[in-house]
Amino acid sequence: MKRIGIAGATGLVGETLLRVLESGPHKIEDLRLFASARSAGAKMEFRDREYEVREVNPDGFHGLDVAFFCLEADLAKKLVPLVADHCVVIDKSSEFRLRSDVPLVVPEVNPGALKSHMNIVANPNCTTIPLVVAVNPLHREFGLREIWLASYQSVSGAGRAAVEQLQYEAEFVTLRQKPDSKGSPLGPQIADNVIPHIADFDSHGHTGEEAKTIRESTKILGLPELKVNSTCVRVPVSVGHALAVTCRFSRPVKVKDAAHVLKRAPGIVLRTGKEYATPVDCRGNDSVFVSRVRQGAGTDELSMWVVADNLRKGAATNAVQIAELLES
Ligand SMILES: NC(=O)c1ccc[n+]([C@@H]2O[C@H](COP(=O)([O-])OP(=O)(O)OC[C@H]3O[C@@H](n4cnc5c(N)ncnc54)[C@H](OP(=O)(O)O)[C@@H]3O)[C@@H](O)[C@H]2O)c1
Repeated sequence: MKRIGIAGATGLVGETLLRVLESGPHKIEDLRLFASARSAGAKMEFRDREYEVREVNPDGFHGLDVAFFCLEADLAKKLVPLVADHCVVIDKSSEFRLRSDVPLVVPEVNPGALKSHMNIVANPNCTTIPLVVAVNPLHREFGLREIWLASYQSVSGAGRAAVEQLQYEAEFVTLRQKPDSKGSPLGPQIADNVIPHIADFDSHGHTGEEAKTIRESTKILGLPELKVNSTCVRVPVSVGHALAVTCRFSRPVKVKDAAHVLKRAPGIVLRTGKEYATPVDCRGNDSVFVSRVRQGAGTDELSMWVVADNLRKGAATNAVQIAELLES
């Protein structure tokens, strides 16, 4: 991974990707940063050097080993296939995730899926990634039958404009005034509020985010019959997604046996007893934090609390891990 391109380098995920790469062992000889025409000419720092941002253009990726795409799905749809003629593309948008010819990869869970790639690899949704990292080791041991998920998702999951919207609204709320939320990327007011609506509703009443967590997790786990019930909620937190997860298994499971499995599982930090993790604890960290593991309503059910930094393990770190796997 010596020659790297980042499309969407000026966004939250692109910037986080730069920081993840910066602190890693990779000797990067060619780094090309791309964004919209608005950012062309801007400078970004990487390991004490300044790099100029260029307007994204498929020809700009010629000669690279890997391109990280951190753009919205409509742009990815147009540009990723063109860039994939030049190099491997790891795409963070939702555009290619469910395509049967595109592997959707979480390295701790389904690294083998990478073998079939045809120069496009999809990075899953920022809620799906911590979910599958946490449930996969339990599935391997106890056989997963059903998941109930409620997410508490930070505003950074919706990009930089959403973080700015929360900051703006929070100032009004502090002054006991009503903020203007017209045109907010999050829909209704988010400060002092929670919103059970992330992306559009379908005809069954599911939101787009809920559909992603359901379809992506069954694809990654290789369990098309798995039942997943999902409610995704936006909360007024800047970074860090939290998930309340209950799983039903094909046989009875004891909390101590689940803890034994989770403690040894890759990518997981387990907190036991009365210790738990919050979004503040996971910020800047690449692990998935699992805590409050407890018996569910039945002997074959377990509930737990899962937290991860959506910009790192939920996006940038996972993509870098995919690139590292491709190299190995
Ligand atoms: N945020 C998360 O937690 C997260 C997690 C997983 C996946 N994702 C996905 O990752 C992608 C990026 O998300 P983000 O949170 O980084 O968004 P963001 O902060 O809004 O950044 C968007 C990036 O896209 C660029 N862009 C916008 N319009 C463009 C255009 N017409 N041509 C070229 N570049 C353009 C922006 O460049 P300018 O600065 O020049 O406008 C910026 O670099 C999205 O598909 C998102 O769904 C996000």
